Parts: sequence; structure tokens; C-alpha cells
Amino acid sequence: MNPPPRSSRFAMGDFFDDYVRRIFPERAQAQGGDWQWPGDEWADDRLREATFDCLGAAFLAADSHVIEIGPGSGKYTQMLLDRTPASITAYEISPAFIGSLEARCADHVAAGRLAVRHSAWTDNRSLIDDFTKGGTGCNLFFGIDVFLMMDFQSALTYLISAACLLQKGGRFVGTFGDGGSDSGWARMLRDCGRHSAFDTAPSTRFHWIDEPILRGALERLGFGSIEIVHGPDGGLDIARLYVSATLDRPMPIEAALQILTPAGDSTNRPAPTA
Ligand SMILES: C[S@@+](CC[C@H](N)C(=O)[O-])C[C@H]1O[C@@H](n2cnc3c(N)ncnc32)[C@H](O)[C@@H]1O
Repeated sequence: MNPPPRSSRFAMGDFFDDYVRRIFPERAQAQGGDWQWPGDEWADDRLREATFDCLGAAFLAADSHVIEIGPGSGKYTQMLLDRTPASITAYEISPAFIGSLEARCADHVAAGRLAVRHSAWTDNRSLIDDFTKGGTGCNLFFGIDVFLMMDFQSALTYLISAACLLQKGGRFVGTFGDGGSDSGWARMLRDCGRHSAFDTAPSTRFHWIDEPILRGALERLGFGSIEIVHGPDGGLDIARLYVSATLDRPMPIEAALQILTPAGDSTNRPAPTA
């Protein structure tokens, strides 16, 4: 008998564990790439610098705190820690990537400037529950090439968390799949041959979106100074929207938790009590 399908949240962590332990070493050997850490091949130097610029990190001070979602091996984590005095809490779903991140940023972990959390992604509110234990809000909340791997309903839970965990004037930065561009469309067509809604294997497809939905969601969540631009190429063949915004109206934590706490079935009726 076939095993029951695994839920996607565990499949995503499994997929990236397998990438770190098997796919990356095989790829590095086959291609002779000069890559030190898993994921280094996803972005060349130019793209890394352009992405770092998008973080707008110059405003970060020694008492600033950053939340990063999906750091992988920490290419941007390390850049931020090396180039700013801020501290980071990084939430990562793959234990193998966490090992790699902690090795790459060992000095910063030892200095207490990087805290790494394994995110089980078993519910939508644990990020807020976990971070609020640490006290004050954060100044920058970002995720590079992670929100484009989840459907927008899931990404929205991170936007809501950002609206609640950022201080007023704090910055959200993320990349999303640019469904409105010619290169996004070309990639969508190419990936029809790789992925299907009927796949039983973990789905690691990109999820595509366009500017109006993102802008509307950010405005409704209290963000302003919203910039949404097609990002530079370099490394992986992805069409990315680079999104940055400043939080004008922080969302009260009770309001965020009310939205993110499980509320029942898909019609949002209260779950029946036993
Ligand atoms: C494509 S990689 C990008 C890694 C890194 N940000 C970079 O640009 O090199 C996506 C990362 O997000 C992690 N990830 C995926 N879904 C996640 C989630 N819901 N919470 C935390 N990490 C997640 C994956 O394990 C992986 O490390």
C-alpha cells in the first residue's frame, strides 16, 4: 500500500534537507562550481549586492533587530551581520540548512548576534508567539526567495506577522514570483513540463503573483512607501519582484493573532467542539 501523502510543510523541509545533503554536493562536483555553501550557486555576486541594496540596511543600528525568514545557508544573513551592527533572529524550516547557516555564521552566533530558530511551520502564529517572547519589535523583516515558494495565502501570514512584529517605521523586504513580466511568463511555461497539480511528490514550484495584489495587501496591512520592481537577473533563472515597504501603522498583536489562529474549516466556520 502507498504511504499516505505527507503534508507540504514537512515536504518542503525534507526537500531542502535533501538539497543540502545530496543535490548540492552532486551539482558542485558535476559543474565544478566555486561554491562554498549550499545555495551559493543561486545568486552571482552582482545579484547578491543588488539584493543587499534592496534590504536598505543602512538605517540599522547596534540596538536594531532583524527577522529573516528562510535564510538557507545565510548568504544575506552573513552580509547583514558583517556590514551592520544589528542582531538577527532567523527562522528556517530545514535542519540541514540550519547546520550550514550556523557553521557559516559561527562567530556571529558565538557573539550573540544571530539566533537561529527551527520553524516547524505547523501553524501560522508560532512566529509571533516565538518572537514576542524576545520583547520589543524588529526594525527589518525580510525573506529572499522564500515567499515565492509558497502560495500567497501562506505568504500573507508572513506579511501579517511583519505588520505586527515590526516597529513603526520598520521595513519589510521580500522577493515574490513576478507573474506579470515576460521572463516570469517564460518560466511559467517552461515549468509546466516540470510540475503538475497532480504530483504526489513535494511541490517546489514557484508561485506567481503580480504587483496590484501585493500593493493592495501591503496598503491594507498598514504599509506605505511601497516599492515593487522587477529584480536583476543573475544565478538562478527566476523572475523576481523585489518588494519593500515601510510600516506606518503597526497591527496590534491581538488583531494579528485573531487572524492567524486556526478558525475552523475552509469556510471559516468555527470548528465543531467534541
Ligand atoms: C530558495 S531558498 C533561499 C535561501 C536564502 N534566502 C537565499 O536567498 O539564499 C528558500 C529557503 O527558505 C526555507 N523555507 C521554505 N519555507 C520556509 C518557511 N515557511 N519558513 C522558514 N523557512 C522556509 C528553505 O528551507 C530554504 O532555506
